[in-house]
Amino acid sequence: MNNTAPPETSDAARLAAASFRAVHGEAPEGVWAAPGRVNLVGEHTDYSGGYVLPFALPHRTAVAARFRDDTTLTVATLGSDRRIQHAPPMRVPDLTPGTPTGWAAYVAGVAWVLRELGMSRGADLVLAGDVPTGAGLSSSAALECATALALLAGNGHGDPDDDERATIAGWAQRAENEFVGVPTGVLDQTASLCCVGGHVLFLDTGSGRREQVPFDAAATGLTVLVIDTRARHRHSESGYADRRRSIDHAMRLLGTGSLGEFDRPRLPDVLAALPEESRPLVRHVVTENARVLSVVRLLRQGRYADIGSALDASHDSLRDDFRVSSPELDLAVDLVRSAGALGARMTGGGFGGSAIALVPDDARASVESALRRGFRDARLRPPRLFPAVPSPGAGRCAATP
Ligand code: GLA
Repeated sequence: MNNTAPPETSDAARLAAASFRAVHGEAPEGVWAAPGRVNLVGEHTDYSGGYVLPFALPHRTAVAARFRDDTTLTVATLGSDRRIQHAPPMRVPDLTPGTPTGWAAYVAGVAWVLRELGMSRGADLVLAGDVPTGAGLSSSAALECATALALLAGNGHGDPDDDERATIAGWAQRAENEFVGVPTGVLDQTASLCCVGGHVLFLDTGSGRREQVPFDAAATGLTVLVIDTRARHRHSESGYADRRRSIDHAMRLLGTGSLGEFDRPRLPDVLAALPEESRPLVRHVVTENARVLSVVRLLRQGRYADIGSALDASHDSLRDDFRVSSPELDLAVDLVRSAGALGARMTGGGFGGSAIALVPDDARASVESALRRGFRDARLRPPRLFPAVPSPGAGRCAATP
């Protein structure tokens, strides 16, 4: 399916354009925006050739751009305090992994990857967005993907088709892996670029096969509620890299490039071939891949309410076998399950961040108040709650706002 529908002009795009005017005294040549995501199921499977099932959020990061005749890149961002911060100007030919750090690294990393591909044109970029940061909702991928589309346009490329979007996702992932230095998979960038409204995206990260699966939960009286626990964990980067190394090691021992090739019936043999410490991790991945396939089957049959048990099993596996949950995520999941959610799980990399819950509309008020009360009783900050509606992927904003 083609992702041709231009994203609506979002608040993020308007803010980016207004901030561009404030910084540069004129309108940008264009604004490109890319969404954050939630992953419905299929966690920590995207760096071993497994399956994922994300959808794009309405929250977006927007990049307002004016293109230059030289190779200078200037970048400014509208901070959450509504003040504009400037990164030191950069020259695209001089970019080297490691500098700058922080938010500007994601922009510079994308410019670096494009330079390696022969595209070095400079630009003045001003960013704004409403994807919650540090919440496991892919604010970094949104920033990378919006930047990539803007810089590609500046280098003379038109709107990418679906296959080109998947290629660009790989470039954005490379920026994050090699320039920023975080060894993530390709889930977030593919979701940001390839999702379409009203659908979840089935992605087989082994073969690259993608399929849009209709997902209109609202029509069946259900809401996917996002629960941002607002707990950011210090160990998230080292924990992620550690899990990835362990999975790479297990794949080497099994002599495979993809855990996606093992289905559930083969699990006992697979585990028997591994040392004790690798078994829970691989058990998570193999069972999680099976859960993705079963959720896709149920969604195709319109049996939305029946996916709850797979979401629950996914969380339990991430908590007990993969060990990437956190006390706050476990609390959120326990609270919503007891208050009437049909299923709930952490979403994203874990170690803090967000959970999702599948909630019947008539239980929504009691689920939300159980969460607020439970977090208060545990002396935690109130969680941020919002419904997740499957939204369009990244693109140029229809008209410069
Ligand atoms: C983070 C990474 C993704 C993926 C998820 C876990 O979001 O960026 O590549 O590995 O964690 O599923």
